[in-house]
Amino acid sequence: MSQQLTETQAWQALEAHYQNVKDADLRTLFAEDGERGERLTAEGAELFLDFSKNRVTDETIRLLLDLARERGVEARRDAMFRGEKINITERRAVLHVALRAPAGTRIEVDGQDVVPEVHEVLDRMSAFSEKVRNGGWTGHTGKRIRTVVNIGIGGSYLGPEMAYRALREYRDPALALRFVSNVDGANFEAATEGLDAAETLFIISSKTFTTLETMTNAGVAREWLVGKLGDESAIAKHFVAVSTNTEEVRKFGIDTANMFGFWDWVGGRYSMDSAIGLSTMLSIGPDNYRALLAGFHAMDEHFRTAPLERNLPALLGLLTVWYNNFFRMETLGVMPYAADLARFPAYLQQLQMESNGKHVDLDGRHVTYETGPIIWGEPGTDGQHSFFQLIHQGTKLIPCDLIGFIKPLSANAHQHDLLMANFFAQAEALAFGKTLDEVKAEGTPDYQAPFRVMDGNRPTNIILADKLTPHALGTLVALYEHSVFTQGAVWQIDSFDQWGVELGKVLAKRIIPELSAAGDAPLGHDSSTNALIRRYRAGKA
Ligand code: F6P
Repeated sequence: MSQQLTETQAWQALEAHYQNVKDADLRTLFAEDGERGERLTAEGAELFLDFSKNRVTDETIRLLLDLARERGVEARRDAMFRGEKINITERRAVLHVALRAPAGTRIEVDGQDVVPEVHEVLDRMSAFSEKVRNGGWTGHTGKRIRTVVNIGIGGSYLGPEMAYRALREYRDPALALRFVSNVDGANFEAATEGLDAAETLFIISSKTFTTLETMTNAGVAREWLVGKLGDESAIAKHFVAVSTNTEEVRKFGIDTANMFGFWDWVGGRYSMDSAIGLSTMLSIGPDNYRALLAGFHAMDEHFRTAPLERNLPALLGLLTVWYNNFFRMETLGVMPYAADLARFPAYLQQLQMESNGKHVDLDGRHVTYETGPIIWGEPGTDGQHSFFQLIHQGTKLIPCDLIGFIKPLSANAHQHDLLMANFFAQAEALAFGKTLDEVKAEGTPDYQAPFRVMDGNRPTNIILADKLTPHALGTLVALYEHSVFTQGAVWQIDSFDQWGVELGKVLAKRIIPELSAAGDAPLGHDSSTNALIRRYRAGKA
């Protein structure tokens, strides 16, 4: 059995250190050290991280790095890259890094190099995408495909939708993407509204090909299409599948020649760069898709080789541990200053919370410390006009990552200056606030002065990239993947399973037939669930 985190030397040193620095103020830290803003930064894979506006000293960083070393973060990272089965509860390798490894790299699972298979699928995806994009692949009636509908949920949806929005500038305008994830029929109806079935291609994206929501929506889509085109054989030209489960794909009626595979060593939430990215590739084209993969790979290489002191994902992960476990913060905000990254926080919610929302360590013991924080966020500047008030003046400590880009996507450079002025200003305001003296010096009346004081000392990370390109998006996603990894390694949890989502699925299956049974049919749940189901039955009758 490994040593409990809280018993390690590094942890105890951090606890003692925390008592000394917990009240340290960013104003003072910056006033006493003119180089802080230059020194507490790191760069890698074309991303720049300024972590100087955190409630840390150089000693904090040194101790956090000691913690990472004592917990074997580097050894665990190397084990992941070697294809070892570090997902111990499912006895699986964790090799999303192989999805973006250049051809010729050797990464083995059970003695077999997986990189050639990855590239074989990528090549098939490229050929298919080109064919759809250039009109070589037509629908059943000979019409060109104009809309692609991705049906999938969780990891088979959030990444593709996030990327579609993020890479708006790189899309083929002649090919629209829509997404169906929710089992709520309204989702399918809204997504297919106004579509011509003859020009629509469905991608059924599901690692397992058994997920209730996806399989239900896939069935509805099949009925919709056959209903509109009046011919079962139309399915062949309007349905493709992305899955690890060939048998289920065949049973559903999709020709496995039109199936794009991936492997059990790719976790759902780590799969947007596997064949699950087919919709992304269709939209932005194979070359841009490969640039996205190159961005992922650049960050993988940085994570794998840079010393922890300058390692962006390691630093980001350790800072999360610092706030989560010592300041006992509950949440972490992620605010992209890019309207096109609107879905990035939602993507990160699954990545982080499904990975690190765990209560048992690798030895099966209940942890005695906090694990994964709650992740949330909205793009800036929108957030500034809704919830930022609480971050600035509320009673809770909410560390935030602010993500910005130097170059605009929009043609309006002035608007980009306005956006970025807000980006820099928010971090400044959060860190340094405004004292009572400063408020009074502005001529604020006494009755109002205390309300206008901003304590400051609110931590932020600034993540700066050149431009929101496919490459940059890849580096950003991989940055967070490896930050999540670092956190999980420190907490010694399995960041790659998701047993917590199972019970709800099982209970729902039991309830499904009960909802259409007779009003007085017996129920065997607790009194609350029984009463609710009876009320629902009565209401729908
Ligand atoms: O319910 C959670 C989950 O298993 C996620 O981990 C996964 O991304 C999602 O469901 C979808 O699963 P699948 O791709 O197998 O349909």
